[in-house]
Amino acid sequence: MDISLIRNFCIIAHIDHGKSTLADRFLLYTGAINEREFHNQMLDDMDLEQERGITIKASAVRIDYRAEDGKKYCLNLLDTPGHVDFSFEVAKSLSACEGAVLVVDAAQGVEAQTVANLYLALEHRLKIIPVINKIDLSNAQPEKVMQQIRNILNLRTEPITFASAKEGIGVEEILERVVKEIPPPQGDRNSPLQALIFDSVFDNYKGVIVYVRVVNGYIKKGMMILFMGTGKVYEVQEVGIFQPRPLSVEELSAGEVGYFTANIRQPKEVNAGDTVTQAEYPAKEALPGYRSMHPMVYCGIYPVNPKDFPLLREAIEKLKLNDAAFVFEPESSSSLGPGFRCGFLGLLHMEIVQERLEREYGLNLILTTPSVKYRIKLRKGETVEVDNPSLFPSAVNIAEISEPYVRAYLIIPQDFLGTVMEFSLSRRGIYKSTEYLGEGRCRLIYDIPLAEIIVDFYDKIKSMTRGYGSLDYEFTDYRKTELVKLDILINGKVCDALSSLVHREKASLKARSLVTLLKQYIPRQLFEVVIQAAIGSKIIARERIPPLRKDVTAKCYGGDITRKRKLWERQKEGKKRLKQFGNVEIPQEAFLAVLKIT
Ligand code: GTP
Repeated sequence: MDISLIRNFCIIAHIDHGKSTLADRFLLYTGAINEREFHNQMLDDMDLEQERGITIKASAVRIDYRAEDGKKYCLNLLDTPGHVDFSFEVAKSLSACEGAVLVVDAAQGVEAQTVANLYLALEHRLKIIPVINKIDLSNAQPEKVMQQIRNILNLRTEPITFASAKEGIGVEEILERVVKEIPPPQGDRNSPLQALIFDSVFDNYKGVIVYVRVVNGYIKKGMMILFMGTGKVYEVQEVGIFQPRPLSVEELSAGEVGYFTANIRQPKEVNAGDTVTQAEYPAKEALPGYRSMHPMVYCGIYPVNPKDFPLLREAIEKLKLNDAAFVFEPESSSSLGPGFRCGFLGLLHMEIVQERLEREYGLNLILTTPSVKYRIKLRKGETVEVDNPSLFPSAVNIAEISEPYVRAYLIIPQDFLGTVMEFSLSRRGIYKSTEYLGEGRCRLIYDIPLAEIIVDFYDKIKSMTRGYGSLDYEFTDYRKTELVKLDILINGKVCDALSSLVHREKASLKARSLVTLLKQYIPRQLFEVVIQAAIGSKIIARERIPPLRKDVTAKCYGGDITRKRKLWERQKEGKKRLKQFGNVEIPQEAFLAVLKIT
């Protein structure tokens, strides 16, 4: 492959500004897919993505494009996710590219993730091609958005393309700009192999499918390769590209993007950011990998049926493979049995992992209250990190606790300034500054405890600003805090899965919301159920559910046994979804509802 004809690029944007639709347009325009496939959203191939309409996994596609100059170019398009939780995925794709198409919605304008993703791209020294998408919308204001791109993003000289991914406007112009403005990759086919792993997935037949960007040298079938990070050696079984369907090829050489398989059965051995080299002629050094992303939010994941634990383990290991930012370790709970303590980038990331586990592996799961990682200095002098309420040291042993803070950047319409500031304050936010961006919008900066953001902060900001507010945040430091462990007792017994770590000032409010909510969700039983919230031995909130004998057949007079049987069956079915705790059954929905309480 002539390296001067290769262009590796990605599309970056705020969520929903039209990246995936534009990517599909490129495929349609170049004949890689047909109209029908276009409408099925080719690049988002996971069911879940289509349902939620967001891109979760970065995918790499090769597009053959005959440009105006008559030459046939090979464009490698790496699709990237736009949500705040997934900046790790964005960074992975960026390091395999030389340029980025920056998409901004003509009606929404520049938003927090537009700014964040642009900075990431500039950090990787990518050539930026700004595009204003959705110009077909009746409320599109391309001229205004153009000013924002010039003023807020400081892209003063770059031409800006007006496009509509939906209608196919501007697609050719963008492809021409990709060819002309983005530099071809640099690299040497004759140097020892260096290929950067930017992703991987598990296939039952072929083992791990490793996505790579070859930087130097080449990789082909039969070659013995070495993973520089793990020291493992494998023989390459297949080399290929995505067009967008997988297609095997002879070799991938310097500058190219594609995949290989090597009958790797252990998902753990393949790490994004690692370098692959040839075993006999290894490269002197590994490529710079990624900054590793640290999970920010932790929770326990348990199978409803403890017998499913081995299946959960297998599912989690496979999932970890194409989700480098997800971490896990086994733990066990007295109320839920064996499970895993897992770490995520944010709450959306957590929900998506849960849904993928349930859907792709048919598991029925319970998640415990999410928590951040607290640093606790003990009286004895040592410092421990705790993200799990059950490991929280007893109060007498604690000298000092600190919690993670983030710097939050909010871009909102000026009209909502007062409401948003009030809300941020209620979330223990420390005001830093306001910047007026023109066009009636402003950027607010706050330092806020991460724990206050993880659950519903973004949702609240969205609804408070009628969908126009956007949020981006970055971790800053650990600061001193007052923390207590809030336990929930069901008939006098602590249900460890419902325990949480909360700020002292918010404990009584949360305690009350929790017991009230649980009362609504726990069905009446044949005996009285008492729900209590406690800090240590002190009970701070209490509710009771009076006993009831629930006879589902009570309404069936006479002896219609088949109807009775049907009702009993249905009742049994319903019970399967309940989690037995002691002799009280807690429905799964109760655990889920509790997660949403801050
Ligand atoms: P994530 O993958 O979630 O980050 O979103 P995305 O940026 O890939 O956005 P996507 O392509 O899924 O588009 C979001 C919504 O905008 C979809 O409903 C699209 O149909 C719509 N959309 C995309 N491009 C256009 C456009 O040019 N005009 C109009 N009117 N709608 C568009």
